[in-house]
Amino acid sequence: MLISIIEQKCKMALERAFSSRLQDLSVEVTRSTHARFGHYQCNSAMKLTKVLQLPPREIAAKMISILEEENTQGEFEKIEVAGPGFVNITLSSKYISQFCQKIEKNLGLKLENPQKIAIDFSSPNTAKEMHVGHLRSTIIGDCLARLFEYQGHQVLRLNHIGDWGTAFGMLIAYIKKFEPEIISGKKQANLVLLVSLYKAAKKLFDEDELFKKNAQLAVVSLQKGDNETLKIWEFICDISRKAYQEIYDLLDVHLIERGESFYNPFLEKTIQDLEDKGLITFSDGAKCLFLDGFVNREGEPLPFMLQKSDGGFNYATTDIASIRHRIQDEHCDRLIYVTDAGQAMHFAMLFAAAKKAGYLNPDKVRADHVPFGLVLGPDGKKFKTRSGETERLIDLLTTAITQAETILNARNEEKEAMSTQEIKEIAHVLGINAVKYADLACNRTHDYVFSYEKMLRFEGNTAAFLMYAYVRIHGIKRKIQQYDKAIIQLIHPSEIALGLHLCQLSEILHAISDDLMPNRLCEYLFELAEKFNAFFRDCRVEGSIEQNQRLALCELTAKILQEGLSILGLKTVTRM
Ligand code: ARG
Repeated sequence: MLISIIEQKCKMALERAFSSRLQDLSVEVTRSTHARFGHYQCNSAMKLTKVLQLPPREIAAKMISILEEENTQGEFEKIEVAGPGFVNITLSSKYISQFCQKIEKNLGLKLENPQKIAIDFSSPNTAKEMHVGHLRSTIIGDCLARLFEYQGHQVLRLNHIGDWGTAFGMLIAYIKKFEPEIISGKKQANLVLLVSLYKAAKKLFDEDELFKKNAQLAVVSLQKGDNETLKIWEFICDISRKAYQEIYDLLDVHLIERGESFYNPFLEKTIQDLEDKGLITFSDGAKCLFLDGFVNREGEPLPFMLQKSDGGFNYATTDIASIRHRIQDEHCDRLIYVTDAGQAMHFAMLFAAAKKAGYLNPDKVRADHVPFGLVLGPDGKKFKTRSGETERLIDLLTTAITQAETILNARNEEKEAMSTQEIKEIAHVLGINAVKYADLACNRTHDYVFSYEKMLRFEGNTAAFLMYAYVRIHGIKRKIQQYDKAIIQLIHPSEIALGLHLCQLSEILHAISDDLMPNRLCEYLFELAEKFNAFFRDCRVEGSIEQNQRLALCELTAKILQEGLSILGLKTVTRM
């Protein structure tokens, strides 16, 4: 990474200047916020004044004189002290050109220690429609998975489907009694039907004592593994699975299904283990864990409930068993859970519980909850269809595709450059890209406003704008057709700005692997497209003396754009 090379140089300079007085020096270098401050900035002088008993500007000046002495290869164009003691570093265009050349061959992502990372995402609930919250989880989770895979880690993409629990008793009892034809195959069933049966079952459960009994019995036989009950349960899972798969196919997202039912055999043993360790307290007959620092509004300790007083297990039981499984059996080095922010407390307690139980050793395994905000409609309220119902995800995605098609058709009308078939294919890519990008581009912790109109725009920070930059590069190559491969030589300020930006992908990815904020990559790519457009405005490519070296820069831009977009889960097209 470019930034770490600069960090090392700054560190070397400080150590050489003040070696006797510095121990375990960590140097802080950031990308400059504005071109007038150069390319990178080192802020360590201010931090060191206390240890060194020197004014920061003096420390900075010493550091700079050593950096200048060492600048034999001409990496630095300019190094200056600014303000209270910032060191502003401007790299030379020669150095940036060489660096571009290097990343053209190899992005420099090779890892010294690849990890095994479990990412728990998407995770809808069987017999229910997937909702916009699950869509966010699917998009963000897939992006994080792609990022880590790109960096060379081993990723377990886990779909922790809510496919187990007492609710299935109702549904099984209902189907057995009222809809046996769907099990025998005489009646076609899909998720829409299942959802309506679920509603009817719930209603009956609340009204009819006998049915309630039957439903409870069905839960017992499900847990015992009774064959007939299991068969109906599998049938229910299958219908739901098919509906989810349709969405995953559209989004091109791959997951390993490992639902709550998978952990059923581990639940009792895990509770037993916690009891043996003396961690379980009974509270109103329920088995609970009490964890330091978790209190309710009244300041009373908050229980992490793991077994209800009727003996039933719950969401938390499965999660404590699954965290144990992911660490002890899967040997994961890192765990990531992508859900709505409403579950933040659950995960904070889960991680605390797993630490207390000795399952999660934070020195060895890092666990993160990746929370996200709500999806809002253009009216700023919770996202709903016009009829007021929650929109089915599949409809939402197909609408994005149809609207993309309308827009592409209108744009094509003047030029008539593309066939109907080609437009259909591009609309598919654009529609899905737009939905994904709109979600990823906003800071995930905020609520996000879903608007087809906004996400399908060709201007601004949108999928189409980025895709278009890529298309433009292909347009240039199509036009020139024959050219010799040249090396990148940055001369014009717009070229240098673009070249430097290209060198920074790996440092952006590195930052995201820590803070898990995909919007940073969107910002990076948006800026890249803008810098490319500025370059294209300022520097003639076709027919200029610099044509081939500029084409090399275009190609590197296309490559970085394509890789960045594919980490977001977006596809590129060569015409649009
Ligand atoms: N099924 C849950 C929901 O729809 C999400 C599960 C997330 N993963 C987990 N291990 N708890 O909210």
